[in-house]
Amino acid sequence: MRAESKRKILVTSALPYANGPIHLGHVLEAIQTDIFVRYQKTAGHECHFFCADDTHGTPIMLAARKEGISPEQLIDRVRTEHYRDLSGFLVEYDNYYTTNSEENRILSEEIYLSLKQRGHIAEREIEQAYCDTDKMFLPDRFIKGTCPNCGSPDQYGDSCEVCGATYSPKDLKNSHCSLCGTPPVSRNSKHIFFKLGDFEKYLSGWVESETHVADGVRKKLKEWFEAGLQDWDISRDGPYFGFKIPGEVEKYFYVWLDAPIGYMASSLNFFKGDRKIFDSFWKDEKAEIFHFIGKDILYFHTLFWPATLEGSGYRSPSQVHVHGFITVNGEKMSKSRGTFIKAEGYLKHLDPEHLRFYLAGKLGAGMDDLDLSFDDYTAKVNSDFVGNFVNLVSRVSTSILDKLDRKLGNLSEEGRKILEELKASESKIREWYETRNYTRVMKECSRLGDVANKYVNDLAPWIQIKTDVELARETVTVALNAARILSIYLYPVAPKAGEKVYKLLGLDKKPEFADLSSDLEETKVAAYEMITKRVEEKAIQTMLEENASQTAKPETSPSPKTEGVANLSEISIEELSKVDLRVGKILEAGPVDGADKLVQVKLDLGALGTKNVFAGIKAAYKPEDLVGLSIVAVANLKARKMKFGISEAMLLAAGEGESLSLFIPHRGAQPGDKLK
Ligand code: 2FM
Ligand code: ZN
Repeated sequence: MRAESKRKILVTSALPYANGPIHLGHVLEAIQTDIFVRYQKTAGHECHFFCADDTHGTPIMLAARKEGISPEQLIDRVRTEHYRDLSGFLVEYDNYYTTNSEENRILSEEIYLSLKQRGHIAEREIEQAYCDTDKMFLPDRFIKGTCPNCGSPDQYGDSCEVCGATYSPKDLKNSHCSLCGTPPVSRNSKHIFFKLGDFEKYLSGWVESETHVADGVRKKLKEWFEAGLQDWDISRDGPYFGFKIPGEVEKYFYVWLDAPIGYMASSLNFFKGDRKIFDSFWKDEKAEIFHFIGKDILYFHTLFWPATLEGSGYRSPSQVHVHGFITVNGEKMSKSRGTFIKAEGYLKHLDPEHLRFYLAGKLGAGMDDLDLSFDDYTAKVNSDFVGNFVNLVSRVSTSILDKLDRKLGNLSEEGRKILEELKASESKIREWYETRNYTRVMKECSRLGDVANKYVNDLAPWIQIKTDVELARETVTVALNAARILSIYLYPVAPKAGEKVYKLLGLDKKPEFADLSSDLEETKVAAYEMITKRVEEKAIQTMLEENASQTAKPETSPSPKTEGVANLSEISIEELSKVDLRVGKILEAGPVDGADKLVQVKLDLGALGTKNVFAGIKAAYKPEDLVGLSIVAVANLKARKMKFGISEAMLLAAGEGESLSLFIPHRGAQPGDKLK
């Protein structure tokens, strides 16, 4: 490996919004970033990892109002939860700060004033939806109505979730404020704009450079250039939770103006306000800045952000690394399907290092979406992590080592060759970490684990020890040296496992690449401590079920106000007629293996035939008591793929847990009878 001088690297991952829990999407990004950072640190570079909560904006202001607390109280609480969850996945930040900080306010003001002084700020009046009841301008997401394209009710002001159309809130039919239900009025207000177009030449040069973004990202950016760069509205009228714009009355910076500046503020806080050190990263091109983001926030990070930095005298990022979305068992993360997995729920039942190991195996440098298939996760963790790496250590570290007084000997010639083969992969592995091709790192480590395990199998130290103790010691010495090399290679991905192997070997430090220059001979080995357990499928099922029951709460929003029935979500008679409620007779009912709360039911719906239903009613009904019962079901519910099969209808019930009660027709209704 060539000697490399010590680099100065600053790394960030996107700042999670302070109005929702950390979920597996955040975790994917945090793990991807953390692997990169840990790699840089173990490679001996000066590398800092900064993040923060993204705390400003209307949704956070309103969420706090709804809870009856101040936004500051809300964001403090959420930040503690976010940090707890992300750290739970062994993500090691140098600083996890908040955008609602003094550092961020000062930097945001400075940057804005600098852009203004250089002529990059404009202002003009715009017309916007205003709620006279709530006395505020309504962001598009706070206006709801009927889609002008497909007629679906209850759609957001900017796009329809049913047909995918995008439109202006003005085109929405029957539009109303999602907070109070009254129709908004139009109002004019002065807004402040960042003239992005001033940076067209600069940005196209930045994008063209080979290193700043990946090819796929560059292609996307070119499309945006062709469409023309529009001025960016960076102001919002009060009431708004954010920073006031200097020199203006009741105007605030739009959350997306101060959010990325939050990266800088987090670093400034870490550097204890020292502007010289701060500038050595944010102004000096000798340092490197890497941002890790998801593809949904590309525009902000590759156009607005470099332009903001350039326009205010800072350097631009060295690289914006963009990842795709995570899907769970092939489905988009969705609350109603129970595939929206919160970090907290995962951590309660499963091992964070398993997810790191699994995701690393699937993470490449591109923007492709990544599927977390729990069957695949179980197979990969059990075979490649436990069956390969952990096995290499555990098989020689218990009874055999006891018989050898837990002492390593010397390496044989053949053993040295094996270790040389493992060490020969160092430069490839480093290159793959550097370029975020973690999938290749993991494949290579599995291959090397196979090589080492085969060596142990072939020599069989458990047989050698019967005839030649020193020969067995030699084999064990080679095996544990091989495990040490793999611990170094895998440390960025599986830091706990690496540290445990080091502890076993009596090494009182974290694994790092420099350790590859030596081997371990004639040393004492500590008592073996479990490195990691196999994945238990039961734990996955419990996690998924618990998660589904917690997240499957329908989101409601008020409809246009009707005197006396505020907050009751109304539907029209036409809408009601879309729901096909039928009497169904339960022909068969049985438990579902691995799902404590579910009963599988075969339902006779008369002329509509029979349907299979998974119903969460087990706490209240024994399956055998259900057979023969007539109940009420939604017969035309679109079939849903669940973990255990397809559910084709829904049984109507009220209440919770043991006191849940099925709807049963009062007298003699027949299967298939339609409810009137
Ligand atoms: O999309 C989001 O979740 C934003 N909170 C990300 C902000 S990243 C940075 F620019 F602050
Ligand atoms: Zn309103």
